[in-house]
Amino acid sequence: MMRLSKNCLKKQGMNISKIIKIDSTTSTNSELKKLCSEQSLPSFSALVTQKQTAGRGQAGNSWESEPYKNLTFSVALFPENLPVKQSFFISRIFSLAVKETLDKYIEHVSIKWPNDIYYRDKKLCGMLIENELEIGLSQITGANISSSIIGIGLNVNQEKFISDAPNPVSLYQITNKIYDLDELLDSILQIAAEKYQQFLTGNINEIRSAYQNALYQKSDFYTYEDKNGTFQAKINGIEDDGTLILETKNKEIRRYQFKEVRLNLYQRTQITQITQIIL
Ligand code: BTN
Repeated sequence: MMRLSKNCLKKQGMNISKIIKIDSTTSTNSELKKLCSEQSLPSFSALVTQKQTAGRGQAGNSWESEPYKNLTFSVALFPENLPVKQSFFISRIFSLAVKETLDKYIEHVSIKWPNDIYYRDKKLCGMLIENELEIGLSQITGANISSSIIGIGLNVNQEKFISDAPNPVSLYQITNKIYDLDELLDSILQIAAEKYQQFLTGNINEIRSAYQNALYQKSDFYTYEDKNGTFQAKINGIEDDGTLILETKNKEIRRYQFKEVRLNLYQRTQITQITQIIL
């Protein structure tokens, strides 16, 4: 069953957006993509379900989400004149919207490049952003994004995770409290709409620096791993197309696309407690 509700996104000139609620679907990204191909939806339409049966994660992984416990939704954007070279603003805007929403409830929330939302060293939220390009390519600016589906999975009230995801965590596990899913959704959409409006009006430096400041492990040297092995580096910046720039200890600059480099999460020496049994 599909229900439509109008949300209160009419702030700072942002058009009222449609929120489509469906009881169950395989993947909100796939469902919203299908809807967009069948009808004309306004930009910033969102599709949310309480039960996602085949949620998709990054790099072909699946996304674990216990029905009725978590927020699983997707937003469709139809940007005008957004060059691929600037496409990372979509990631920045939605990551910040989730982070700023979570900041209302808990501390220690950060954004792990490109768009995972972390609580300390654990993953609280993942995003799958799927872009389509305009046909025809401008010689000057390169291709433009014609549509973007931003899929967000936020772990909210789930008590236990059963998949082999390395480090999931939910709001419930952090605070022992149950949260209202609609309230979280409204806040994320509201903040994202405001930031998108800010982006459209050219106020992009604020978004760049808010994202940079919110980054997980942003200031020190950490161990990274690329196809040639591990190395120590610190984040030097993120470009507008999403390229991660790392600086090694001997000041060498290395640039990576998503999945070309990995932060070695468990680098801190784990001290195993050995209980000595004296007979
Ligand atoms: C990741 O691997 O971190 C990305 C996870 C993205 C999951 C969300 S849940 C809602 C939307 N629909 C999907 O099928 N995936 C995204």
